[in-house]
Amino acid sequence: MLLMYSLQRSYNYCEIGEKMKRIGSIALASIAIIIMAAMAVSVSSKQEESDMVSLPQPRTDGGISVEKALFERRSIRSFKNESLTLDEVSQLLWAAQGVTDDKGHRTSPSAMASYPLEVYLLAGNVTGLSAGVYHYSPHGHNLTVISLGNKIDELFSSSLRGKKDWRALSPAVIIITGVFERINKVPGQDLSRFVYVETGTAAENLLLEVVSLGLGATYTAGFDENRTRECLGLARGEDPIAVLPVGRKA
Ligand SMILES: Cc1cc2nc3c(=O)[nH]c(=O)nc-3n(C[C@H](O)[C@H](O)[C@H](O)COP(=O)(O)O)c2cc1C
Repeated sequence: MLLMYSLQRSYNYCEIGEKMKRIGSIALASIAIIIMAAMAVSVSSKQEESDMVSLPQPRTDGGISVEKALFERRSIRSFKNESLTLDEVSQLLWAAQGVTDDKGHRTSPSAMASYPLEVYLLAGNVTGLSAGVYHYSPHGHNLTVISLGNKIDELFSSSLRGKKDWRALSPAVIIITGVFERINKVPGQDLSRFVYVETGTAAENLLLEVVSLGLGATYTAGFDENRTRECLGLARGEDPIAVLPVGRKA
C-alpha cells in the first residue's frame, strides 16, 4: 500500500516536472518571440529613419526682391555640369509647397486648403544627397527615399525630334503631381481644374526661388507620362503635372 502510494506520488511528481518543463519551454519560446519582434520593430524603425533625409531649414528672408525675380525669370534649358547643394534643393522644395504656419498653411494657396499636390525630387548631382528619387514631405520638411540611383537620364532618354532631351543633363528635377480625390469632395462637381491651377502657383513660386538663388529652370509639361509614373511609383488617382529641371545656368 505504502509502495503503491509512493509510486503514485513519484508518478505525480514526474507529471508535475514534465508540466513545469513544458511551461518553462513555452515561456522561453514566448520570451524569444517577444525579443525577436522587438528587434524587428527596432530594425524597421531604423530602416524608416534611414529612408528619411532631413532638409536644412529654409531661409524666409534675404534673396532678391520679388520684382527683380519676376523681371529676371526666363526658361533655362542648358546647365553646367555642376552639382546643386542640399540648401538650394531645400529652398526650392519649400518655395513650392513648404509649410509656413502652425495651421499647416503653405507657400502656395490651395482651394479649400485641400492641398492636392505632391512634390518629388529626382536627384542626380546634389551635394550631400545620394542620387535617387525622393518624395518631399512639407510638414516635416524632409525627403523620403523612393528609390536610389540617378533616374534622370533614364526618364529623359527618348529623343525629341532626333535631338537628345536637354532635361537628361539636369543635376536635379522637381516633379509636381496632383491627387484629384483630395479636391473632388463636392458631390456632382468636378473640380479637377483646381489641381492644375495649384500646380501653376506652386511651380511659379519655385521658378521665382530659382531666380533668387541664381539658378536656372524650365516649367515643362511635355513628358512621357507612363515613364514618369513608373519612376515615381504613382498609384491611380495621382497624376504627374509639371516637370521642372533645375541646374546652374550654362
Ligand atoms: C504649361 C507650360 C508647359 C510648358 N512645357 C514646356 C515643355 O514641355 N518644354 C519646354 O522646353 N518648355 C516648356 N514650357 C516653357 C515655355 O516654352 C516658355 O515658358 C515660353 O517659351 C516662354 O519663355 P520664358 O519662360 O523664358 O518666358 C512650358 C511652359 C508652360 C507654362
